[in-house]
Amino acid sequence: MTASISATIAERLLAWYDANARDLPWRLPPGEPLPDDPAWPYRVWLSEVMLQQTTVSAVKPYFEKFTQTWPDVEALAAASDDAVMAAWAGLGYYSRARNLVKCARAVAERGGFPSTEAELRALPGLGDYTAAAIAAIAFGRRAVVVDANVERVVARLFAIREPLPKARKAIRAAADRITPDARAGDFAQGLMDLGSHICTSKVPRCLLCPLSELCEGRRQGAPESLPVKPPKKQVPERSGTAFWITRSHGTEVWLVTRPGTGMLGGMRALPDDGWSARVDGSGKPPLAGAWRSVGAVRHGFTHASLTLQVLAMDTRDQPRGEGQWWPVAQIGEAGLATLFAKAAGLALAEA
Ligand code: ADE
Repeated sequence: MTASISATIAERLLAWYDANARDLPWRLPPGEPLPDDPAWPYRVWLSEVMLQQTTVSAVKPYFEKFTQTWPDVEALAAASDDAVMAAWAGLGYYSRARNLVKCARAVAERGGFPSTEAELRALPGLGDYTAAAIAAIAFGRRAVVVDANVERVVARLFAIREPLPKARKAIRAAADRITPDARAGDFAQGLMDLGSHICTSKVPRCLLCPLSELCEGRRQGAPESLPVKPPKKQVPERSGTAFWITRSHGTEVWLVTRPGTGMLGGMRALPDDGWSARVDGSGKPPLAGAWRSVGAVRHGFTHASLTLQVLAMDTRDQPRGEGQWWPVAQIGEAGLATLFAKAAGLALAEA
């Protein structure tokens, strides 16, 4: 590919972005000078962490809530782990929230975000993608930003037929060739917007695409077949039991905080029989008594599909282990992960 084709791709994409950029709460209008405000890289960082494996529409209300509660990195650094985990509840991939707090504290300690990709990459929990995205979007540096949308656009543009994940090297090299020196952040976000609205996974809208004349995948036919995905792994089926334990005529429920950094670690939850630590839950309930079944919830994790039975009981006894009685009327503020929020919903529907 010649340098002039790369330049044409960048020019067309940026012109398309200037006219079509999505208006998102963490974005500047295209081409606008970067604000000299320490809250700006904070907002870019927060949005990029939230957007990993999560859709724009799911992220928006969380982004608003976080930036209202913690308007800058110092405020987030001073927050308790519990408060951040609870605010993250429902967004999934909870290790992101644990790392978010660690990273905020490291950034506050050093007096603000660094601006180079290498220094950003050295912050706790901050990976290649996020470092490149912040360097380009927040600081206007040239960085090659490749997320799943960009990966799809680039694989098609250059008809890269090698299957993922091996194709990542070639995709990155091609993305590097077309990334301009100026406006690398707008260019990256332009590719993202193109990927999410035009160069979509199943039925790409090539007639609306500013790059269609330059697209080798389209020229060769069936661009929707790219990138070639590896065969889907079957995830194992798991089963377990969660316990809805109430006292005082169902007005308070027993909640625990899940330990460690494993599955849903640090999140408030219903007690369970240990299904996540074993292949199938076989631990004892935290109380003996007359349990009643209120049904089961299904939940898909990346590594397993879970059927969680939900057993309920009202008691006068103290359950085994650490936990707290929580007002049932305020269960919405407990910060339960989606799985346990669904289980709570079942118990409440039955009550
Ligand atoms: N996905 C990840 N980062 C994004 C961004 N900055 N804009 C839109 N979608 C994104």
